[in-house]
Amino acid sequence: MLARSLIERKRDRLRISPDEWRALARAYSADEVPDYQMAALLMAIFCRGLDRDETRALTDAMLNSGARLSLEHLGVGRVDKHSTGGVGDKVSLVLAPLVASLGVAVPMISGRGLGHTGGTLDKLDSIPGFRSDLSLEQATRQLETLRCVLMGQTAEIAPMDRKLYALRDATATVESIPLIAASIMSKKLAEGLTGLVLDVKVGSGAFLPEVERGLDLARTMIRLGADHGCPVVALLTAMDRPLGRACGNAIEVEEAVLALRGEGPPDLMRVTYALGAEMLVLGGAFPTTDAARRAMEGAISSGAAARRFQEVIEAQGGNPGIVDDPAALPQAARCELYHAPRRGFVAQVEPREIGRGIAALGGGREKIADRVDPTVGFVITARPGDWVEEGEPLASILARDGQGVDSGRATLARAIRIADEAEPPLPLISHRVTGSGVELLGDR
Ligand code: URA
Repeated sequence: MLARSLIERKRDRLRISPDEWRALARAYSADEVPDYQMAALLMAIFCRGLDRDETRALTDAMLNSGARLSLEHLGVGRVDKHSTGGVGDKVSLVLAPLVASLGVAVPMISGRGLGHTGGTLDKLDSIPGFRSDLSLEQATRQLETLRCVLMGQTAEIAPMDRKLYALRDATATVESIPLIAASIMSKKLAEGLTGLVLDVKVGSGAFLPEVERGLDLARTMIRLGADHGCPVVALLTAMDRPLGRACGNAIEVEEAVLALRGEGPPDLMRVTYALGAEMLVLGGAFPTTDAARRAMEGAISSGAAARRFQEVIEAQGGNPGIVDDPAALPQAARCELYHAPRRGFVAQVEPREIGRGIAALGGGREKIADRVDPTVGFVITARPGDWVEEGEPLASILARDGQGVDSGRATLARAIRIADEAEPPLPLISHRVTGSGVELLGDR
């Protein structure tokens, strides 16, 4: 009865009180609310929105549906980074060991890919033996020694979000600012953080493509952080093209390893350094982002960051040898080049098409239970704005078989548009948002 009256209320643009959110969370977690009613409520929220107090009450209900990490005893800053989701986004794999190697604890709880976006957990799964299903106790022990853990959302952390996220994916209710904000912040606040850095993606491949909506999402999450004593800084970064060159699972791990060895593509490194500098300052390790950035460059050139990644992989049961020899990662059966069909400017490399194309190759998920092939994907060397000649290689297709190669070619033909003129792409890092306001960076 409770669920029906809340659906009715939201449908009619009325408010739901904190007590009612709590009661709903209890009933849903106890399987007393069927998914069809929750789906209707999600759609009502999607259409009518939530005000500030309701968003906070929903976040609290989701946060309190599970346990929290308690990490005060570490005696250092505890900072995580979360991206709102993109294609080719392997930043977490580089950032977590890099920041941890400089003394800030990074309890990174990541998700699986859904829809067209990739997920850090799927990428980690491609490392032979790697286990991301740690308990909170195991995670705490690892943070005590290595200051870094790369794990999935356990059954203990915000279980209500886990159920809702799958339901939102199946009911086309992902792209809602209060639902995204409550989903992300309920998980992050459960990590016992002293600070959080958000990578809010904007552009055609983002869940919320428009800059104004990205800014709204950033402000909503910053407010939720402030309400819970967790300072949050958000950077808006471009997702109108994939980040870096590799788009898939094992090949993204390989590109992350190259980045940790100082050989990462420039756009990946710029986003990684910008987010990492914010993490290190929030974590109290450095007074300024410039000092933090210099330290990160040092940790990469000295090998300290790559070593920390090896240690984390080993501690979580994976083969640390992939850092010295990425060929130890699973390899695709077929690798074929894709060539420019004509001369001209690369006008677009559309991330949604690439993300869907990875799923079509078997490397992504339509449903949460789908199995992912770690080997397939694309390595795209063409960047928007490049001039290319007909027949020039633009990308590689990594596939299981000839049918996959054909599907990959069709994807790239749709995704990479070549034209006589090209509009400039979005600035790579365009805005910095904090509790004090919005700074326009305009960084291309
Ligand atoms: N990432 C999340 O964790 N939740 C969302 O709703 C969207 C992106």
